[in-house]
Amino acid sequence: MKLCFYLATKNKNKVKEIKKIIGDKIEVLLPPNSIKFPEETGKTFKENAYLKAKFLSRFIKNDYIVGEDSGLLVEKLNGLPGVNSARFSGERDDIKNIKKLLEMMKNFKNKEDRKAKFITYICLIGKGEKKFFKGEIEGYITFRPRGKNGFGYDPIFEIPEIKKTFAQISLEEKNKISHRAKAFVKLKNYLIKKFK
Ligand code: IMP
Repeated sequence: MKLCFYLATKNKNKVKEIKKIIGDKIEVLLPPNSIKFPEETGKTFKENAYLKAKFLSRFIKNDYIVGEDSGLLVEKLNGLPGVNSARFSGERDDIKNIKKLLEMMKNFKNKEDRKAKFITYICLIGKGEKKFFKGEIEGYITFRPRGKNGFGYDPIFEIPEIKKTFAQISLEEKNKISHRAKAFVKLKNYLIKKFK
């Protein structure tokens, strides 16, 4: 039987990225349509990743479940938007979130004051296991959005090595370097090694 796990998310952008990162050695299964995830209540990415996996485990038995939580942290804003990245403006709206963040940072004219990082935490549960994996990428918040690809804060997150935002590169390129890719490659290697 093929190695598989259920991914505890309804976010289509994340599903698309994660399926590409995981590749074809492991099957990524999605929650039934009828399941509605509650709003996140955890105080950390790690806690939220666990809560998402735990919630889905009420419906899925005898299989691995993976919860993922991620977000953006700006150094000079003491880690904001942080765990509240998805609803930073008060709504789940990428354009409004970006607008609010750029407005809050308008007096940070110096690039060094615009340092930020994306973080992903993954929690794997099921079959008697509970394990966490983490991925990070550091960069800068741009002064205005650039690029059309991706989702969330991608148009304002610049990768220092290539001086392009996540929204200016392809999904294949993003998946070689992103916070999510780093965490999911660790998970993939763990599962493949375990079932060799
Ligand atoms: P959650 O993990 O579903 O709570 O939401 C994470 C939020 O963080 C997303 O809605 C985005 O706003 C932001 N985020 C997480 N990962 C990325 C990414 O790879 N690119 C852009 N924004 C991201």
